Amino acid sequence: MTALTITRLNDVVGAEITGLDPERLGPDDTLAAALLDALEQHGVLVFRGLHLDPGMQVSFCSRLGEVEMVTGTHPVPGIYRVTLDQSKNANADYLKGTFIWHIDGCTPVDDEAPQKATCLSAVAVAEAGGETELASTYAAYDRLSADEKVRYERLPVVHTFEASQRQAWPEAPPEHVARWKVRPPHEHPLVWTHRDGRKSLVIGASTSHVVGMDPGESRALLDDLLARATQPRFVYRHEWSVGDTVIWDNRGLVHRASPYPADSPREMLRTTILGDEHIG
Ligand code: OGA
Ligand code: MN
Repeated sequence: MTALTITRLNDVVGAEITGLDPERLGPDDTLAAALLDALEQHGVLVFRGLHLDPGMQVSFCSRLGEVEMVTGTHPVPGIYRVTLDQSKNANADYLKGTFIWHIDGCTPVDDEAPQKATCLSAVAVAEAGGETELASTYAAYDRLSADEKVRYERLPVVHTFEASQRQAWPEAPPEHVARWKVRPPHEHPLVWTHRDGRKSLVIGASTSHVVGMDPGESRALLDDLLARATQPRFVYRHEWSVGDTVIWDNRGLVHRASPYPADSPREMLRTTILGDEHIG
């Protein structure tokens, strides 16, 4: 038996989980299933003061799906350091892109599906800023008018890495822009019909343009949909304390970090649970 308590954080998205003993996730299949159910239902799961150590975070997440075994920023395989400190992460520059609403993995290097879920744990927090904000794109789809649902159903949208980076770094030198352009563009429908039949909007920083639409009209449409999805009353904003862990369903949410200074001590340990469903 699991003794989880699940408390909703907002009318639309997010739930706080208490009563979790991460050590029990190993032997207890019902616990993993309960957490996956809660993730699907609430989009974001918040565990305050869990104080997972990095190895435990990887094994915890691997009970929820296949963990991406990244290396290079942290001694524990599977852990990626989210920090603007270049001495801790050589690619810290790219992480300014996390300040803009986005879905992880819309512009993969090859053709990988977007990550199923993302998990962050706070090692150090910012003195100002650095909250993580999350908004449901399932709910954003549900709030469209009947007419919009029909019009947007198969609208093709081009996503580029350049689009997401340019917003974070409008003055980037040409050699950076050239590097952004190496990642191929990807075309995704504006509405993602998931395997289980739920529908969500595929919006956020990586959207470049709607195929075949006048550029001004296309930008206005994509910006309007994002603004509607991320109105403050629909957003869960996590104010971090050291030891907190937050997991979100990356397929049905947009997220961003509130800006924090480049010399902030803020450091999050990220684990990514791989996706097995392409946008379609
Ligand atoms: C990420 C991300 C947000 C944050 O790591 O993909 O968007 O609050 N992070 O650091
Ligand atoms: Mn992200």
